[in-house]
Amino acid sequence: MKAAELIKDIYWVGAIDWAVRDFHGYATPRGTTYNNYLIMDDDITLIDTVKYDFSDITIKSIRSLTDPAKIKNVVVNHIENDHVTSLGDIMSLAPNATIYITDKGKKGLSRFFDISKWNIKVVKTGETLSTGKKTLMFLETPMLHWPDSMMTYVKEDKILFSQDGFGQHIASSTRFDDELITCESMADLDDAVVDYYANILMPFGPIIKNKIAEIQKLGLEIDMIAPDHGIIWRSHPQRVVHEYLALAQGKANLSVSIIYDTMWHSTESMTLPIMQGIKDEGVDCKVIKLRATPMSAAIKEFWKSRGCLIGTPTLNNIMYPTVAEFLTHVRGLRPKNRIAGAFGSYGWGGGAVKDAYEEFKRMGLEIFEPGIQILYKPSPEDEEKCYEFGQAFARSVKEYHKKFEEVV
Ligand code: FEO
Repeated sequence: MKAAELIKDIYWVGAIDWAVRDFHGYATPRGTTYNNYLIMDDDITLIDTVKYDFSDITIKSIRSLTDPAKIKNVVVNHIENDHVTSLGDIMSLAPNATIYITDKGKKGLSRFFDISKWNIKVVKTGETLSTGKKTLMFLETPMLHWPDSMMTYVKEDKILFSQDGFGQHIASSTRFDDELITCESMADLDDAVVDYYANILMPFGPIIKNKIAEIQKLGLEIDMIAPDHGIIWRSHPQRVVHEYLALAQGKANLSVSIIYDTMWHSTESMTLPIMQGIKDEGVDCKVIKLRATPMSAAIKEFWKSRGCLIGTPTLNNIMYPTVAEFLTHVRGLRPKNRIAGAFGSYGWGGGAVKDAYEEFKRMGLEIFEPGIQILYKPSPEDEEKCYEFGQAFARSVKEYHKKFEEVV
């Protein structure tokens, strides 16, 4: 892949991973990219590296611009494996380069590599590095999304190298948002942003809001945002900043996701009258079967809707395992500003719906009660109850959603 020019003397030298479909358990149907950047200033500076499988590709791109031995500085914004595991290859070609990294990043780096022979400079927010005609400023962003994380800002060009922040898992032959005119669309890009936020950044909403406020307070004008995954925001970088602020404030559609699993189709057959009840109240609704859907796609749908109904049969007095797994995963993401209810079928003693409500309470979600349980298989009367349950839930979602209309 050819190096791509962001602006005079700054190039993308990353790699496109068209084939990855499972990114540490996160489904990536669009693939991804590992973006890193080379600043061809007096002191040649590499911003980030790539996943180890793609070492050769980034080194080839770098060679198209310079001899890697001439790299003077390597900025390591984030030490997760997809960005740091080719650092050893880079350092073997540029052994005298100085690495710029946060304190926690340095500690973590020592777990990946023998760093005893490397020049490493620990940096803090506000510290700068002159590369000649350009000035890099570092901005620590702990827990966005790892303790080591930081971003790097080029003052003269107003470019923010934002590591995972503002990224998306999307493989594309184009590098910039204004080039999305053929294979991918802005709708794909927007969806990929929400998907990424829901699965990776959802727990860190308050930190995101504070960090964006800090950047604004520092008076940093941003003309371009260059993340470590996906498309570079060149035409309207503020668009994704505003989207992040809205997501951090719990932005959601006035809609319901019904997320369920089923053993013998009884819980499944409850979903249709429930969905109809929701629709007849004028609320959009999406139905997602867990065993037919990647976990990360179900999480995205959960996050997009203000309301969620969980459908689970009872198995051995507790929730169905896929539903329990889904809710455990969601709990770890610390969702906020969502209303939830539950329904399901049972054969003997029941217990799954009660279990689901206990999980909602642990998460601190707004709760719609009571849930609805059906013995074995819904009768026509039960289907009517399901329909009314859907209607009542939709009315509660509409009411709850009003709280956020002025805020978001
Ligand atoms: Fe793309 Fe946190 O790694």
